[in-house]
Amino acid sequence: MTTLCSSVNFFIWQDEYETGDTDIDEQHRTIVETVNILNHACVTGSSEETVRRIMRDLFDFSQYHFFTEERQLLLLNGTAYHKHKREHEQILRFLRTNCERDLSSQELRHQMCTLVRKVYARHMYSSDKRDIAAAQSAPEMVAARKRAGESRAD
Ligand SMILES: [Fe+2]
Repeated sequence: MTTLCSSVNFFIWQDEYETGDTDIDEQHRTIVETVNILNHACVTGSSEETVRRIMRDLFDFSQYHFFTEERQLLLLNGTAYHKHKREHEQILRFLRTNCERDLSSQELRHQMCTLVRKVYARHMYSSDKRDIAAAQSAPEMVAARKRAGESRAD
């Protein structure tokens, strides 16, 4: 039998997930927190309706979050932008499929939570870290930050 992790410590925020963009990091923290809420609902035997509602919340927030990221990622070259956007589409497909999956046993619920955590941890640690950092150092972004700093100093 699978031992379910403590709901609080299921998905632990790591400094390594930081991208350097305050808004995106804040949204990533919200995603981590929502996965912990999802796991808590599974561990404590919440109804299927409750678990599916949290999954839909995660889906909706992810859509919004990916849109935020993609606005910045437009500063990358086309290949990098489209590769990252495709990953977002895959994650949304994965979440949509899991909104409908069989949740009739603790084992199946645990499998789902573990997969959701893995998908997000991998995406934040690799693609987001690399591509958001690159967008942050794009000349347009550096110039915009400089202008914002100058206008605050006025
Ligand atoms: Fe991303």
